[in-house]
Amino acid sequence: MSADRLAALNQKILEKGLFAYWMRPERRRPPDPRVTRWREVYPLLLDAAEVMGLEQTERRLVGGYQIVMPGERAAAHRHTMSAMRFVVTGDGTAYTTCNGEQMFMEPGDLLVQPNWGWHDHSNPGSQPVIWMDMLDNALVGLLEAEFWEFPPERERDPERERLAQQPLTHPDGYHNQFYGVTRPARLVGSPNPWVPFAYKFRDTLPVLERMAAEEECDPHDGVLLEYTNPVTGGHTLPTMGARIQLLRPGEATRSHRHTGSVRYLVVQGQGVSTLDLDEPKALDWEDHDQFTIPSWRWHQHRNRSTTAPAILFSIGDFPIAETFGLYREEKA
Ligand SMILES: [Fe+2]
Ligand SMILES: [Fe+2]
Repeated sequence: MSADRLAALNQKILEKGLFAYWMRPERRRPPDPRVTRWREVYPLLLDAAEVMGLEQTERRLVGGYQIVMPGERAAAHRHTMSAMRFVVTGDGTAYTTCNGEQMFMEPGDLLVQPNWGWHDHSNPGSQPVIWMDMLDNALVGLLEAEFWEFPPERERDPERERLAQQPLTHPDGYHNQFYGVTRPARLVGSPNPWVPFAYKFRDTLPVLERMAAEEECDPHDGVLLEYTNPVTGGHTLPTMGARIQLLRPGEATRSHRHTGSVRYLVVQGQGVSTLDLDEPKALDWEDHDQFTIPSWRWHQHRNRSTTAPAILFSIGDFPIAETFGLYREEKA
């Protein structure tokens, strides 16, 4: 068949709203990864806070960062997408209310908000609170399983421009205690892995530092911790896993590649992550930048500082790949 006849045939098929197997394009790589620069996004977040009030948008989100200004309160709702929030800046007085628990947001904390968990945000402090905001909406959308619910009092109070908030029924740390090493006996063996949980940076950092001192390191990731699910002991959520890693001063990891894409946030430090082996692409990063390593791309990380550790937080979709037998890794 000539190229012209094939093109004409394809055109007819497309005009009928149909699609043929041979039209399947070459497996396309996502757009070339680049670093989202904190120093560029931060002023945009402040601009967005002036331009758009929280009563106009569910999420004031720019470049993967969400901001709530002093005195602001975001409306309560819940949805079938799960969310993770890693706090970048703030004075620790802002909080997310999740299923009634007042979870304070200090820099470096990870808050896990499960599928169908009620949530809203309040910032009674004097500094903006900004966090990395990650949802599993791509998967939920693909499965056409997106549902939302709002409290009945959502209707805005026209006089006070106030949006519905959850009552604070549980103190900070409530769910962590509930699902801690001692827990109500009726919950032991509970199959529900969707629980609200907060992982405090003040608990995580000493573990990273101790492992670094003991040289308990992975050659491809440095000192690597996973935020385990308190019910299953496995990945953070069935759809997303969260990890944090420390690169010791001057450390360079070996290259590897694996299925599942990973979004990184630089908690602290300066370094470079290099993609691909044949035509290497360097992603230079510093404090609070974000970048993505797409699925099945070779990558390695290097801490540029010879005196200070670098810390990277990341969220990946590897739990999905593992669940469906699609996880694969190759090491250089
Ligand atoms: Fe939400
Ligand atoms: Fe990796």
